[in-house]
Amino acid sequence: MTDSAEIEPPTNGAAAPPPDDRSQRFWDSAAQSDPMWHIATGAASDEESFFASGRVETDLFLAHCGIEPDPNGTALEIGCGIGRMTAALADRFGSVIGLDVSREMLRGAEQALVGRDNITLIHGNGRDLSGVADASVDVVFSYIVLQHVPTADGQLSYLREVRRVLRPGGVAGLQIRSNSAKARALDWAGHLRHRVSGRQTFDRSWRGSRVSRQAVLAAASGTGPGESGPPASVELRPFGQRHTWVVIRRAA
Ligand SMILES: C[S@@+](CC[C@H](N)C(=O)[O-])C[C@H]1O[C@@H](n2cnc3c(N)ncnc32)[C@H](O)[C@@H]1O
Repeated sequence: MTDSAEIEPPTNGAAAPPPDDRSQRFWDSAAQSDPMWHIATGAASDEESFFASGRVETDLFLAHCGIEPDPNGTALEIGCGIGRMTAALADRFGSVIGLDVSREMLRGAEQALVGRDNITLIHGNGRDLSGVADASVDVVFSYIVLQHVPTADGQLSYLREVRRVLRPGGVAGLQIRSNSAKARALDWAGHLRHRVSGRQTFDRSWRGSRVSRQAVLAAASGTGPGESGPPASVELRPFGQRHTWVVIRRAA
């Protein structure tokens, strides 16, 4: 393990990386074997506590990012899994779009969210927000998803796409892995612990990639060489030792 192996150099161009088939395969398999463990390793012993953890964490992280619930607003969740937080978002916003790279996860979400009429589920290609119109959502939210995206380019592509789909005045809170030596050490300790307990968490589709602060700020704000699209203000808000929230506000 070396630092340079984990941080991929930022690219200046806005060219989209190819569809993320590897993540689709990894997460389909995770959904078929043990979806609740792969979604929330610490929370999930039964369905009730799994969805309860989604409600608690949704409130915690919306507040951390300064995002207010809005019964008239539309929220987009990137990486909705089987709907743990989607259900909570649907109680706090007028409508919710849940997007995921895994059709198997979406199948689980369909079952878990049956009867809720303000949720639309979309299968994504793992790299962009195709299927979500320009300037169409008030809030974008994503937790423990970008941290798994295997390449820096893939993560940066989502940050650019978030600016495209946010309405003027809209706000996004997206969690990524922190980049400190301590965060790296803690993440590796976690991967090793999971491996010892028989989980395949060395796969790049689980470990993800780190992205430099500079590249995150450039892609999320739309400033810097080669960036295009609507500009936004960006704040990086650490949470604990291992996570950072990227808060993106598109100007009104
Ligand atoms: C750890 S789970 C978290 C699910 C949900 N955010 C939650 O906290 O309950 C990660 C989810 O992200 C999805 N995912 C992984 N890579 C993705 C990508 N590139 N684009 C969209 N979804 C992705 C996986 O299929 C999985 O459902």
